[in-house]
Amino acid sequence: MAIRKVGVIGCGLMGHGIVQVAAQGGFDVVAFEGDKGALDKGLARIEKSLSKLAEKAIEKGKPKEQAEGDAKAAFGRIRGSLDKKDLADCDLVVEAIVEDLDVKKKLFAELGALCKKETIFASNTSSFPIGVMGDASGRPERMVGLHFFNPVQLMKLVEVVRSSKTSDDVFAQARAFGEAVGKTPVSCKDTPGFVVNRLLVPYMSQALLMLERGDASKEDIDAAMQLGCGYPMGPLTLTDYVGLDTTLSILEGWVKTYPDEPAFKIPAILRQKVKEGKLGRKTGEGFYRWEGDKKS
Ligand code: CAA
Ligand code: NAD
Repeated sequence: MAIRKVGVIGCGLMGHGIVQVAAQGGFDVVAFEGDKGALDKGLARIEKSLSKLAEKAIEKGKPKEQAEGDAKAAFGRIRGSLDKKDLADCDLVVEAIVEDLDVKKKLFAELGALCKKETIFASNTSSFPIGVMGDASGRPERMVGLHFFNPVQLMKLVEVVRSSKTSDDVFAQARAFGEAVGKTPVSCKDTPGFVVNRLLVPYMSQALLMLERGDASKEDIDAAMQLGCGYPMGPLTLTDYVGLDTTLSILEGWVKTYPDEPAFKIPAILRQKVKEGKLGRKTGEGFYRWEGDKKS
């Protein structure tokens, strides 16, 4: 594979997980952040997750020395950075910053000017067109979507998205990268929400509208989907888990671009919570209260 060195931009909820699985897959990784506090927090989460996964591997019979050695080696392949120039010689750069198309376009334009000409660009966007970011970068044929799922360390899927301009070679390399980091890739065209979010986000939004109407309590809506459908989390817990700000940005972008699509609706309760700074698990409160990774 031509990809050896990977840059990840943003070390938040998704970015830290992408950094981690890339390092576990044997790649050298530059973890770039705009914010020192967020970088430190992301690296600390990676260390904690690696040691949790090593513990589990030991429980399953992996020799302790080997499990701990693998975790340490993976962490050793990660270099945190606050300087964008460190991305210049990466073979692949995966963007995982805030879900705002204008901010992403500006970033890809900078990357197009900064990175070596062979660098492949990928976005982890939940909802925006890959082709638009490719155009902004000035090298649309080297742009793909690599959409990972939360939590990246545990979810086995990656959606690999190609725009009409993505080259066959770049797309094949992106799929191979997904496999090399332990995921099952599915291919998708450059459509709103790709496969998963086109189905999942309207479902989450319907659950919020149900809560807003008072049809059932949040606990009962969640229990209904967990126990009635076998989903690992109910939709309100999942919205907290994804982040209410991210969910709102996805819906706002779609409603603006596709005002006649009845599946794309913005529940007032979602706007209200975001206005109050209750963004879900990452701020300790959304529809539920959270202590770290667990509901309190
Ligand atoms: N790294 C390492 N270990 C982790 C971890 C991480 N990041 N996150 C959780 N774990 C571990 C926990 O510590 C726990 O370990 P123990 O069994 O030793 O306690 C174990 O995994 C199970 O976790 P939990 O007990 O917290 O809870 P769980 O059994 O419900 O599993 C889950 C957690 C795997 C997240 C599961 O609830 C699940 O699959 N939820 C649905 C997630 C989902 O739908 N994700 C997609 C969101 S949409 C998206 O990502 C796309 C988008 O663009 C918005
Ligand atoms: P987040 O808010 O947890 O993290 C975003 C990080 O990016 C922050 O740490 C922030 O400091 C950093 N950042 C923002 N602008 C930056 C810039 N210009 N340069 C460098 N760093 C910058 O968000 P997240 O949930 O990790 O989402 C990131 C991306 O992944 C979004 O596009 C989102 O739609 C997508 N996504 C999210 C989920 C989810 O469940 N949350 C799942 C799949 C995809």
